[in-house]
Amino acid sequence: MTVEVTERGFFGDFGGAYVPEMLYPNVRELQLCYRDVIETPDFKREFDSLLQDFAGRPTPTFLASKLSQRFGCEILLKREDLLHTGAHKINNTIGQILLAKRLGRSRIIAETGAGQHGVATATVCALMGIPCVVYMGETDMKRQALNVARMRLLGAEVRGVSSGSKTLKDATNEAMRDWIANPKDTHYIIGSVVGPHPFPDMVARFQSVISAELKEQCRARGGKSPSRVIACVGGGSNAMGAFYHFVNDAEVRLVGVEAAGCGLTSGRSAATTALGRSGILHGSRTLFMQTEDGQVEEAHSISAGLDYPGIGPQHAHFHVSGRVSYVSVTDEEALRGAKLLAREEGIIPALESAHAVAYLEKETFKPDERVVVIVSGRGDKDMATYIEAYGEAIADEI
Ligand SMILES: Cc1ncc(COP(=O)(O)O)c(C=O)c1O
Repeated sequence: MTVEVTERGFFGDFGGAYVPEMLYPNVRELQLCYRDVIETPDFKREFDSLLQDFAGRPTPTFLASKLSQRFGCEILLKREDLLHTGAHKINNTIGQILLAKRLGRSRIIAETGAGQHGVATATVCALMGIPCVVYMGETDMKRQALNVARMRLLGAEVRGVSSGSKTLKDATNEAMRDWIANPKDTHYIIGSVVGPHPFPDMVARFQSVISAELKEQCRARGGKSPSRVIACVGGGSNAMGAFYHFVNDAEVRLVGVEAAGCGLTSGRSAATTALGRSGILHGSRTLFMQTEDGQVEEAHSISAGLDYPGIGPQHAHFHVSGRVSYVSVTDEEALRGAKLLAREEGIIPALESAHAVAYLEKETFKPDERVVVIVSGRGDKDMATYIEAYGEAIADEI
């Protein structure tokens, strides 16, 4: 099993670059140069230095003692929530802004669901002094209002999208349209391992710092490899970053947790591997939820960052080949997962990350296991949803 991409951008049957003619020169330029650029010592030096001094890497791997006791094994939490701007998304935006600068781009666009990628993009644009437009579905603007305000304070223009379900898929469509209209001066910072080649591979490389550190940190904690690595999957970037350096370690079980929303058979979910079929979405061949005649189905998750009807092509490949197990967690289970982590370990996770935590309740573990859960982001942005969900009961016992 490999995470290597083919020359034409494929992982098994999935990937590629299905883009309109207008965008072809941009995408082709990126395809031809991204590896050379990101592998130069000068780029690596600047990337590593910003990850460390600006974003706050390395993030700790925390031994969650009470969760370990509760689930009868060793549970480690990879703390991406401690990063500047509050989630793993900054790893990728730092990489892409450095690339955009080297390509001479003078304007940045992005899509965002939970607003974390939008905030991370607005942040690096402020840092580099480059104008930035972020597309965001109107539903998401309401449930992630704090992040809208953060992006605006950072100087980004946030453009609300009122089409479709007014969520991440629709924001991605609008960002693609903008890029088609402005191919010369604009770089589109895609926020997950989705989109046409080279985005899935490039974003995975930037996020792979998560598993590079994790490997090292497991070595430092007695040398034992994780028995499982569990991460939530929206488009799949924190999961790809967490799985990247373990893909060839057959003894490490990799688990991707999707959003089951109101339940797998409810018609209101975002569990792509369970419900999706192969097709072309946002520039690549992948699995996505679709109607009989191939139209994209609306997704639903309480978590804006997982509310997406597809997954990146690497994940489609890992699902079909069986290397990664994809499971799902409902809205209610995720809310319980958030409360569990808050009460047991003093960490309020993002709703996305709460899906990974909640999955622990669905498994049994052997005492000698070392289980790693990726806490992809912090929960400040989700406080309105937590308050709405728990209301008065927020003070009750679990
Ligand atoms: C904290 C957090 N975790 C996870 C995700 C899901 O994205 P991905 O699957 O690309 O990691 C998001 C998306 O916004 C997020 O904000």
